[in-house]
Amino acid sequence: MKIHYFAIAVALSFLALLSGCKKTEVKEEPSLKSALEGKFLMGVAVNDLQASGVDTAGVRLINEQFNSVVAENCMKSEVIHPEEDRYDFTKADRFVALGEKQHAFIVGHTLIWHSQLAPWFCVDKNGKNVSREVLIKRMRDHIYTVFARYKGRIKGWDVVNEAFEDDGSYRKTKFYDILGKDYIPLAFQFAHEADPDAELYYNDFSMAHKAKREAVVRLVGELKAKGLRIDGVGMQTHLQMDFPPVKDYEESLLAFANAGVKVMITEMDLTILPTPDRNIGANVGRNFAYSKEMNPYPDALPDSVAAAWTARMEAFFNLFLKHSDKISRVTMWGVADSDSWRNDWPVRGRTDYPLLFDRQHHPKPIVAAIIKAASENK
Ligand code: G3I
Repeated sequence: MKIHYFAIAVALSFLALLSGCKKTEVKEEPSLKSALEGKFLMGVAVNDLQASGVDTAGVRLINEQFNSVVAENCMKSEVIHPEEDRYDFTKADRFVALGEKQHAFIVGHTLIWHSQLAPWFCVDKNGKNVSREVLIKRMRDHIYTVFARYKGRIKGWDVVNEAFEDDGSYRKTKFYDILGKDYIPLAFQFAHEADPDAELYYNDFSMAHKAKREAVVRLVGELKAKGLRIDGVGMQTHLQMDFPPVKDYEESLLAFANAGVKVMITEMDLTILPTPDRNIGANVGRNFAYSKEMNPYPDALPDSVAAAWTARMEAFFNLFLKHSDKISRVTMWGVADSDSWRNDWPVRGRTDYPLLFDRQHHPKPIVAAIIKAASENK
């Protein structure tokens, strides 16, 4: 009899154990990429520590939460093509390998940009601007060589980055000095010749400005009129708490979609810190001195401030869901808060909280809010 009771007890504990296991299986959290499937790709910028596998927590999040990756720095010309006769693909190769391992849609950033430009690119040995012919040849060689290495593996490229000022005029870069506005169609032409299957994008910041919006719409029209390929416009989305207004941003999103290209929300982050100049965009040339007042949350965010941050981020994601038929990708500019360039710009050495995952790589409340909003937006 005693043995009988014992057998029943063992059987019951075994069943309890089994049902416990079942519960853990069912409780698997949905990820951002699965919740947003069918709406738009969920992308993230990858840095060298992640591409090289050193930041294991970051790599885990990239794998679990995102289905598109973009190179944060390793494909800029100063890194990938430091001297005219020397390319260095070490970091870029690692980035592409990570994207392939994770079956992500890989985006290259960026081919022609005035910033983080290889110092030799536009000048001769005496530092004087090269001729029109020389610069065109250098652009062609650069684009052909980088494309040849990643043909068929990188699916889309930011071909030209940040060519306009906020007032819609052309940014007076070395490319513009030497080639005038022709450098943009030339870059798109060379990119298409080098890989006819790659998607080609124009990418810029502060796109909510009316004048900039109109300039970019004009550019898309001009490229199309020349018969050139342009697939998308990337709206860099480096947000502040009070700027830009969602409404202005939405107008730009609609204007780009109406111009007949895909809209990509690129480089998204939301600073909570005071900004010396409201209209600073992402102009890395501008910097301000550190002071304690400019770094108000060195240890943690007060709850009310964190709630305001979540609400603003949520407003933008609700907008993206509303227009998901026009948006092909939303890309965060970094995985976790500690990775963000915002901690050092426009003031060095601050503690900012601009991304979806905190410094311990835990999801912030915004992650569950996005997943919920996506599931309600069927
Ligand atoms: O690689 C050097 C390293 O060797 C050195 O030890 C270290 C010391 O500061 O600097 C490292 O370079 C830094 C680089 O990021 C890599 O971390 C540069 O100083 C720093 O200026 C650079 O900042 C990048 C910035 O572009 C430069 O333009 C940011 O990480 C990157 O997030 C940011 O990204 C740009 C987009 O490409 C275009 N749109 C605006 C966006 C934000 O500025």
